Amino acid sequence: MFLHGTSKINDSGHLEIGGCDVVDLKAKFGTPLYIVDEQLVRQRCKEYVEAFQASGLKFQVAYASKAFCVMAMCTVVEQEGMSLDVVSEGELYTAIQAGFPAARIHFHGNNKTPDEIEMAIDAGIGCFVVDNLVELHLLQAIALEKNVHVNVLLRVTPGVEAHTHEYISTGQTDSKFGFDIGNGSAYEGVEVTSKQSHLELLGVHSHIGSQIFEVEGFQLAVQKVAEFAQGVKTGLGIVFKVVNLGGGFGIRYVDGDTPLKVSQYVKAITDAVKEHFAKIQSELPEIWVEPGRSIVGDAGTTLYTVGTNKNIPGVRKYVAVDGGMTDNPRPALYQSHYEAVLANRALEEAQETVSIAGKCCESGDMLIWDVKLPEVTSGDLLAVACTGAYNYSMASNYNRIRRPGVVFVKDGQSDLVVKRESLQDIVGNDLVPERIAKQAVTK
Ligand code: LLP
Repeated sequence: MFLHGTSKINDSGHLEIGGCDVVDLKAKFGTPLYIVDEQLVRQRCKEYVEAFQASGLKFQVAYASKAFCVMAMCTVVEQEGMSLDVVSEGELYTAIQAGFPAARIHFHGNNKTPDEIEMAIDAGIGCFVVDNLVELHLLQAIALEKNVHVNVLLRVTPGVEAHTHEYISTGQTDSKFGFDIGNGSAYEGVEVTSKQSHLELLGVHSHIGSQIFEVEGFQLAVQKVAEFAQGVKTGLGIVFKVVNLGGGFGIRYVDGDTPLKVSQYVKAITDAVKEHFAKIQSELPEIWVEPGRSIVGDAGTTLYTVGTNKNIPGVRKYVAVDGGMTDNPRPALYQSHYEAVLANRALEEAQETVSIAGKCCESGDMLIWDVKLPEVTSGDLLAVACTGAYNYSMASNYNRIRRPGVVFVKDGQSDLVVKRESLQDIVGNDLVPERIAKQAVTK
């Protein structure tokens, strides 16, 4: 297994992260357990901030909290000078509870409810990323009623869709997100926004995809947004102060994944901005980005205890762990690949190829197909790397399995930032109405 950040194999043959032996972490916190390498998170934040500083442009780097949103994470990214992107009242509430400065919070989403908009306005957030005309009018009405002015970016679809290794230049009219540049709705959106008494249009936002390894898609998006900016300036006399280019910067999950360095992504984007916007406006726009996965993805490791196994001679050996698709739905949802190490015997030679199954009651609950490990027995510890992004945040209670705890490790210290759910948590919101309870008694 590739060792990310501070991960290493210590002299006892145990995986160690942030100076903490995972065998001790199991004893202290139990399994399954999400372990986050705090130093690596901080390093990634610094890489973004420093790369933008080097560009000389004005900027904000907003951590896309959907990747992993808990209060301690909000606090860490805040300390590293980041802004924050939230998409729901829950993410917003988490940020506010963590004391995240509201002015540095950006609110996304294609269907913000009136309650969410009110909550965000009352909190004094820095910017709404408006997705459609219905939201635009709702936001104006609520801002008017509250007599406040709110900053707005319009989410536009530039006609570039990027995947890991390639981008597709399409009309991309068929997307649930944003105002399409190609069919004129983005232009109309700018025009309508400019006429609203309580909305301040800062500029536009574009997000072209996730887990992207190449810079061409970003460069093309900058070019398309710049052409749009030119049209808006000529036709409406409006100049964008801010251009947000979203997230999507890739990370290494397994061999063969070839992400660029953060500094390379940032340089490609900022160079493209300089090239394309210099022709349009004397003052270059402030550039915002929203990395999620590349801040926290490779900083996360999930620790499991091995339970049963089933060996089917000539077919395969299934090894079951005490978690699965409830704590990591990505293999089932996206056929994602992961690497793993036998964390309590990491120096031993690989002996067998096994497949790692979860404990949910369905065949699709597999974490890794075919991984080479030393001979695995019950009680061994299995660590799956690169589970920091979109694992805890997408975890579920399927089969009423408890969500694991999350621990931050750094310099030999380990601290819970989310407690493991209790059985009481599992039934905590359940109600048995009297009408039904009575029926059970009288039967
Ligand atoms: N900004 C916007 C508007 C987004 O929609 C996203 C991700 C991001 C930023 C952050 O993208 P990142 O840097 O993390 O790639 N659940 C999927 C990923 C969904 C991404 C959705 N939007 C997964 O597990 O791979």
